[in-house]
Amino acid sequence: MVRVKTKLVTWEEIVEWSHGLAMIIRKDGYKPDVIVALARGGYVPARLLCDFLDVENLLSIQSQHWTEAAKAEEKAIIKYPYKVDLSGRRVLIVDDIVDTGDSIKLAYEFIVKNWNPLEARTAALQWISSVAKFKPDYYYIEVTDWTWFQYPWTRLEDTYQFIKRIMTETYKETNKKKWSFEEIVNGFKEWYGIDVGELYYREALRILEEKGIIVREGSEYVLAT
Ligand code: ADE
Repeated sequence: MVRVKTKLVTWEEIVEWSHGLAMIIRKDGYKPDVIVALARGGYVPARLLCDFLDVENLLSIQSQHWTEAAKAEEKAIIKYPYKVDLSGRRVLIVDDIVDTGDSIKLAYEFIVKNWNPLEARTAALQWISSVAKFKPDYYYIEVTDWTWFQYPWTRLEDTYQFIKRIMTETYKETNKKKWSFEEIVNGFKEWYGIDVGELYYREALRILEEKGIIVREGSEYVLAT
């Protein structure tokens, strides 16, 4: 039984979606002078939009989520709040996905207030309309049923976090600590309904070992507690 609704996104889909998004922006007649990639998820889509829309200027801004002490809610902040002068320039702020909408809303407001653009619009490959508090000006796919999209640029990070979750949750439920490689791969497929391939499982286990979350015992992996 799949526990988290997950979709594996391929590089081919990213090119197709970015092209589709570029066509929507072009048809609307918006010609940005500068694209701002919202780090880190917006980097690849922003670079592809530069290509498809023939935009030379690419900047970046990073937002980060902080979990406030004693609060379940996360708060988005601009990580390096530097200032640039974009007066007279039309800007397009790009992210991969608008989920809660906090990051892109914050970036948009920060840029309008501090970078003084002539105009600022927002774009994302995907918009989760059922949960987002912010609707981007342009999006390619409207998602209504919340899903975790496994993008090519977070493949490894997601894989090690998913494996960590499978091992810790299973330990809580059944006291199981020791896993073979095959059990981990099968567990991954069962929990997430996707297969990222051997390279990513091996690299993820190496990272978890490096972080001291698991310990290798021969050919088995043991959750360190
Ligand atoms: N980042 C924030 N929300 C996400 C989602 N639903 N899928 C992938 N990356 C995300």
